[in-house]
Amino acid sequence: MQNKQKITILDFGGQYNQLIARRVREMGVYCEILPYTKPMSEWKDASLKGVILTGGPNSVYADGAPRLGSELFEMGVPVLGICYGMHLINFLSGSQVVSAEVSEYGRTELNVDSGVLFEGVSNPTSVFMSHTDYIPSAPAGFTVNAYTESCPVAAFSDESKGMYGVQFHPEVNHTLEGRTILKNFVFNICQCDAGYKLEDQIEKMIADVRAQVGDGKVVAALSGGVDSSVASVIADRALSKGQLTCVFVDHGMMRYKEAEQVMQTYHENLGLNIIHVNAEDRFLDALKGVTEPEQKRKIIGETFVRVFEEEARKIDAQFLLQGTIYPDIIESGINGSATIKSHHNVGGMPKESMFQQEQLVEPLKYLFKDEVRYAGESLGIPHDMLWRQPFPGPGLAVRCIGELRKERLDLLRLCDWIYRDEIAKAGLSESIWQYFAVLTGVKTVGVMGDDRTYADCIALRAVITEDAMTAEVAEIPYPVLNRIVLRIIGECPGVNRVVYDITSKPPGTIEWE
Ligand code: XMP
Repeated sequence: MQNKQKITILDFGGQYNQLIARRVREMGVYCEILPYTKPMSEWKDASLKGVILTGGPNSVYADGAPRLGSELFEMGVPVLGICYGMHLINFLSGSQVVSAEVSEYGRTELNVDSGVLFEGVSNPTSVFMSHTDYIPSAPAGFTVNAYTESCPVAAFSDESKGMYGVQFHPEVNHTLEGRTILKNFVFNICQCDAGYKLEDQIEKMIADVRAQVGDGKVVAALSGGVDSSVASVIADRALSKGQLTCVFVDHGMMRYKEAEQVMQTYHENLGLNIIHVNAEDRFLDALKGVTEPEQKRKIIGETFVRVFEEEARKIDAQFLLQGTIYPDIIESGINGSATIKSHHNVGGMPKESMFQQEQLVEPLKYLFKDEVRYAGESLGIPHDMLWRQPFPGPGLAVRCIGELRKERLDLLRLCDWIYRDEIAKAGLSESIWQYFAVLTGVKTVGVMGDDRTYADCIALRAVITEDAMTAEVAEIPYPVLNRIVLRIIGECPGVNRVVYDITSKPPGTIEWE
């Protein structure tokens, strides 16, 4: 995607990197996240207005630590280093980084002294810190712009060289005035204009799909989720009749009656050319005896691809369309970040697939979830389809802890349906971002009637989040929880206990696996 202005974000492996990119795009400025190893000649062009160096898990002194060399000083545009990125600027400017005895983690009061980056920011303000290494004194030529009780250089700058650094994370919501700080960098320091519009991107995505596919044929992996639906509609707009076949693979890990609903919605609302493949037995056979979460994901990803390959061969299609979005790529560690979970549509892609990288059509791979939804709205996809709660590609597999057997999945499906039914009846479906039941794999002792039971424990998960990167627990009213528990115990033989998961993300993740 060619844009007139861009901010390049160099990825050093931090977990919040995509939030930085989201914040910049929210301001109407295009940005890209690239691995720090990407040669500058490949991204430094006339559109470059600024560079952000991200955080990362390393110490700048560690063996093999990700580093830049003298190119840091050859960018010709302002540079903002965040956390590890700041340490790197400091280190390359000839100053020390030291390791503290205790990490600084969480909300911290920041005292602001000066600097363009802090224009309009209150003093003191609250910021989110997550670090062990810190900078005891700024390098020669740099001014200290802010400090905290335990961090003497929490922000510095050499405005004459266009170098800025912050120890805290302005991109996360816990930094109260983080958006102002980033805006100061993007508009006041880098002099960007807010010219990036999603509508223009949609036109570009359609044109790109057309250019990539030419007269070829595409098989689309349609899951029923928002991303694959929007990707398929883009491809449908881009291609002629007969070029696109959408394949909905039922892997046996969908929610209650979901497969039927998905098929009906696509036929009725979107008029897509879609076929339904029932592959439940095949998936469950491949997953027999497997309990390790990453292995489950990889097997599911691989089996998906095999099924699509077979469907593609049947219709002689050379391309596979996927609803991969930007966070999938970043979270799967492809950019060098630590892999938290292999998203099935990225990490699970086997190397020896018939689809090589250039045969993957991924129109949404530079968009964030909310951008995908807005793109879907402008493409005329019904609102309800776009704003339904997200359902992971591996489906109930990541909510069924332990072996994936049909009877366990059926039990989970029933519990999950009761949970969703009660949430809908309580009028809460719109206000909770994602909620689902988990079959914990733990059996506990109970008493029902006069008998001892030893049966399954179900966990209820409900979260509120803006972007799924961090999440808070949704507070479901107690009487609603009570009704859900009574119904699950009463209607689901084999369950004798229900617990409510009140872990936020971090430290938990939203899904259990
Ligand atoms: P976690 O569990 O990583 O989930 O906090 C964040 C969001 O991502 C969804 N999720 C996935 N979606 N393929 C997907 O399409 C996956 O492999 C996958 N894993 C997690 C999860 O439901 C939540 O909305």
